Amino acid sequence: MTQFYFDEQTIQSVEGETILDALIRQGHSVSYSCKKGACKTCLVQHIDGVLPDDAQKGLTTELKSDAYICACQCQPTPELKLKSILVQNLFTTGHISMKQYLSESVVKILIEPSEEIPHSAGQHINLRRFDGLTRSYAITNDPHSPVIELHIRRKYNGQFSDWLFNHASVGETLLMQGPWGDSCYKAEYKNDSLILIGAGTGLGPVYGIVKEALFQGHKGRIYLYHGVKNIADLYYHNALSHLMLAHKNVAYFACVDNVHEGKLRSKRIKTGDPFDVAMSRHQLGNQTTSSGYSQRVFLCAEPSFVTKGPQQLYVYGAPLERIHALAYGYKYLSMTR
Ligand code: FES
Repeated sequence: MTQFYFDEQTIQSVEGETILDALIRQGHSVSYSCKKGACKTCLVQHIDGVLPDDAQKGLTTELKSDAYICACQCQPTPELKLKSILVQNLFTTGHISMKQYLSESVVKILIEPSEEIPHSAGQHINLRRFDGLTRSYAITNDPHSPVIELHIRRKYNGQFSDWLFNHASVGETLLMQGPWGDSCYKAEYKNDSLILIGAGTGLGPVYGIVKEALFQGHKGRIYLYHGVKNIADLYYHNALSHLMLAHKNVAYFACVDNVHEGKLRSKRIKTGDPFDVAMSRHQLGNQTTSSGYSQRVFLCAEPSFVTKGPQQLYVYGAPLERIHALAYGYKYLSMTR
């Protein structure tokens, strides 16, 4: 047992328990999302006592100097004193400026921040609702727009995503924190051969990365794989087909689970998991392809897939520093690299 203090209340943590888990177990209302150190929704502020190991790992210099710590990433030290954050110090307000249903289960939401938030597709942002419920979502638009774009899939047991999909209206105010993460397009990738795999609404961030690559005059090939369960879930099929026609270096493939080979309407639609389809078409392992380009892989999918995806790609031969993985939204969000 270790005793520590949170907002002047005594907390007992059992061996091996993180600060976040101890607070949740003892009924404190604390925000959290990924429990992996990625989303930063679980920040609390250090007041006194020995700073636990890894408490500030991955935080910006500014957050570190303001004594924030990630409650999910560390175990308490004896007599540690912590306090909850002041929301106004960490969050910016914004409002929903547009809602557009892209399919029966996906809605595009634009949020206009009250002050500029520099962002890129491939980062994520934390949204906080009027009642304090906080979730992380992957950003889907490029840095040249003042609004933040998100693709939200309706999830029946997803408190926040269901609310955004069904109930939140244009004009609704939200608090925003971030963005975080670095799985974005960079100018130094210009000559690389890009392989982008987006499952479900994971398409949004990878589509945003492709648009940014084209905006920056990308020279290498771009292969985009969108994985869905049913053909009706291919919510950007037309836009991506047009993008491919407009740019000779872009190839797009839809990967559908529930479709019989005989019913495929286009050679651009493949059956099966986007990861497997992509790996069947690309030889990873060589730093440079036969056409002279180095490969770089972007993955955006459910957290469980994103956790195992980089390991699988590594086994296929992709160097870890050339794999960028981002999990999209809902309650849990994790990121590597
Ligand atoms: S960083 Fe702690 S819950 Fe995500």
